[in-house]
Amino acid sequence: MEENRRSFGRMPDGTQVEELTLENGRLKCKLITYGGAVRSLIVPDRDGKAVDVALGFDTLEDYRAQDKYMGALVGRYANRIGGAGFTLNGVEYPLCANDGPNSLHGGAMGFDKRVWTVEELTGDSATLSLVSPDMQEGYPGTLTVRVTYSLAQDMLKIGCWAKSDKDTPFSPTNHSYFNLSGHDSGSVEGQYIKLRSARYTPVGAGLIPTGELAPVEGTPMDLRSVQRIGEHIDEPFDQLALAGGYDHNWAIEDWDGQFHAAAMAYSQDTGIAMSAHTDLPGIQFYAGNFLNGEVGKGGAVYAKRCGFCLETQFYPDTPNKPGFPSCVLRAGEEFRSLTGYRFFTLDNAGQL
Ligand code: GLA
Repeated sequence: MEENRRSFGRMPDGTQVEELTLENGRLKCKLITYGGAVRSLIVPDRDGKAVDVALGFDTLEDYRAQDKYMGALVGRYANRIGGAGFTLNGVEYPLCANDGPNSLHGGAMGFDKRVWTVEELTGDSATLSLVSPDMQEGYPGTLTVRVTYSLAQDMLKIGCWAKSDKDTPFSPTNHSYFNLSGHDSGSVEGQYIKLRSARYTPVGAGLIPTGELAPVEGTPMDLRSVQRIGEHIDEPFDQLALAGGYDHNWAIEDWDGQFHAAAMAYSQDTGIAMSAHTDLPGIQFYAGNFLNGEVGKGGAVYAKRCGFCLETQFYPDTPNKPGFPSCVLRAGEEFRSLTGYRFFTLDNAGQL
């Protein structure tokens, strides 16, 4: 085995899980083939000191025991599908209801719980693949998915390619939790966030979008100018109350399918800033409200809001919302998406 590849344990059926290490002289990233998850992401702080900004676990058993989608590749459909089902081409497809009456993150055995195959590994990139058989978790079509993680200068890029032999809804994401003061540094509420979007998709019960695109203007959902994550998060605003904090999809400004920066975050402690880039129409800013004291790497305790996610995606419940940009991957067509997380340093939040 190459030295950037080691065993990370075995599944109960004996399947080998591996850990892969990517490095480019500036960033270092560890991935595991279980869930195709990012297990650590080491970036330099303002003094050049290495900081691990991604939450993760020490053992395969810890990964298998948690339900937070820690660092994982999520699919076939990231986020929620209302009523756990949809109709496509006149056919009803019931899905697994694993979040009250709704389906969350691909169902009971989504991509996050599968062992991905390593297709290619270089010093600074890894391509993982998965075949999801026809009707797996209720979704039509045999779907082949390839995800390439690569380090390009100061950016972790996550490219996804997929093809299905039947029409199917498809919206993959990466569910990394970031803490720019270090994965073991506690709450992210003092860190800064900025989201370029002027509109978001408000939700009702069960965090299913109502179908509207609402202006952020004049609400705590307006993150267009930099502010602390905790600044307005507990305000008595119905959307925040429903979700227990930020856990919403913002609509990418002037979405044109091109790769643009959608969000930024910053820690004053380390000076580490990040930007999240996507070519998809939506981004979920989730403030880790459901983290619940999981014991992570080196014994770090991941309490509520100890990490945040910036999940690039199609809008939640698009399969049931004809007004949202379509997430249907047509039979035989190629799906491609690109997500990027760029890391740099700043002196203060005003520079974000
Ligand atoms: C997503 C959802 C959250 C929560 C987490 C997993 O980001 O939007 O509501 O389900 O995944 O804990």
